[in-house]
Amino acid sequence: GVTREYYLNIEQLTAAPDGYSRTVMAINGSIPGPTITANWGDHVVVHVTNNLASTKNGSSIHFHGIRQNYTNPNDGVVSITQCPTAPGKTTTYKWRATQYGTSWYHSHIGLQAWEGVFGGILINGPATENYDEDKGVLFLNDWSHQTVDELFQSAETSGPPTLDNGLINGTNVYGDDNSTSQTGYRFNTSFTAGTSYRLRLINAAVDTHFKFSIDNHTLIVMAMDLVPIEPFNTTVLSIGMGQRYDLVVNADQSTGNESFWMRAIPQEACSDNDSVDNIKGIVYYGSSPSTPTTDAYTYTDSCDDIDVSDLVPYLSQNASIPYYNSSEPVTLGSNSDNLFRWMMNGTSMQVYWDNPTLLQIWNNDTSFTNYSGVIELPKRNEWSYVVIETALSLPHPIHLHGHDFFILAQGTGTYSSSEITSLSNPPRRDVAMLPASGYLVVAFKTDNPGAWLMHCHIGWHTEEGFAIQFLEQYEEALKLIDYDTLNSTCQGWDEYVEQNS
Ligand code: C2O
Repeated sequence: GVTREYYLNIEQLTAAPDGYSRTVMAINGSIPGPTITANWGDHVVVHVTNNLASTKNGSSIHFHGIRQNYTNPNDGVVSITQCPTAPGKTTTYKWRATQYGTSWYHSHIGLQAWEGVFGGILINGPATENYDEDKGVLFLNDWSHQTVDELFQSAETSGPPTLDNGLINGTNVYGDDNSTSQTGYRFNTSFTAGTSYRLRLINAAVDTHFKFSIDNHTLIVMAMDLVPIEPFNTTVLSIGMGQRYDLVVNADQSTGNESFWMRAIPQEACSDNDSVDNIKGIVYYGSSPSTPTTDAYTYTDSCDDIDVSDLVPYLSQNASIPYYNSSEPVTLGSNSDNLFRWMMNGTSMQVYWDNPTLLQIWNNDTSFTNYSGVIELPKRNEWSYVVIETALSLPHPIHLHGHDFFILAQGTGTYSSSEITSLSNPPRRDVAMLPASGYLVVAFKTDNPGAWLMHCHIGWHTEEGFAIQFLEQYEEALKLIDYDTLNSTCQGWDEYVEQNS
């Protein structure tokens, strides 16, 4: 493969994605930022410059879903693999595109990702369904007229705030179509009759689970996250935060000038959004878009993942029996300041800006091993099972870094080991839904040394400590660390950035 080099500049600016001006954070002046495009096997080098104004705004970029095979220090996770990149400084990330398909990158400090610090990753490779034209990434976001930092104040004290709106590829209207006060403009894309299109759907919301559809059209789903699957057809697609689906859509519904709604519908079972009916784009045939009059498909409001029977990886792989089992009950509590904190197995993740896990490993500072949120997996190429359970009636999109996990069980009620019925080619991906009042069992092989985060991808929950770390093959991980690079970012943060607790 060749080397692809990208320059990302994170800055604060005023923008109006739905016609309402507010302060945002953006990359190279746009939301979403530029798409990182590569071919399968390429080397990718990304230089990230932090041009945020305040000295308190450290930053980072994480390449969501990218395996980072033997490149853990490039995972971009503040307090795990690096210190925050200080304002005015640049961090360079290097990784290899060992997977292909659709993903995204985003800041991995605080809530910056949802102020606008994100963009697409598109890696060309084989596809399991034919198509004529690639439409590229299609981002679904929720959006508010306050910043997510402002909203977090209430999230921490009184629970998830209601969001105002949503965006499709960074744009939408605000207000009804027949109201004169409507602002902004809708995303639109043109279809030519008889052509088939690939759409790369990404849910980049802070706290909205979407159902996606294009009126009258069938969606052929051919990949989940970075894993190709046996294609299946659907009219409405459920997509949790952090998840991706690659779709092929045949332009077979019109031969004239006609427009159809593309819909991203927040699911009320787990999302609070004022704009349930209005996060829409337009698919048009002919020369220009008009306001569609088409009807939505019927759907059931729910935040469940697609049934596992539809999610069959195209390249078959089997799981095996575990040498390590981890049980991670999820609970909600509060800290001494009475702020909400989520816990996995009784521990809420602590963030140390100036002493990330990899630096602790380098310094042979074993304090992290006393912390119950760090799980050591010393043996190489062995299976670990993680049982995540919740008694609360709220689902969570669970994401693991550095691996595609195998989904061994997913359901409501109490988990027992008899729920694992097969290890043969289960769905594998990097985000799966933990159902409300239910369980999710995932498995992965310890084949990638480093410190890997597992967390809920709801922004509020990540911030409220809903995370654990797997420390895989300590001795090998140590060899991957470039001390000078790591340490250079770690000076001074303790003095002027508050640690969260
Ligand atoms: Cu999308 Cu921990 O990341």
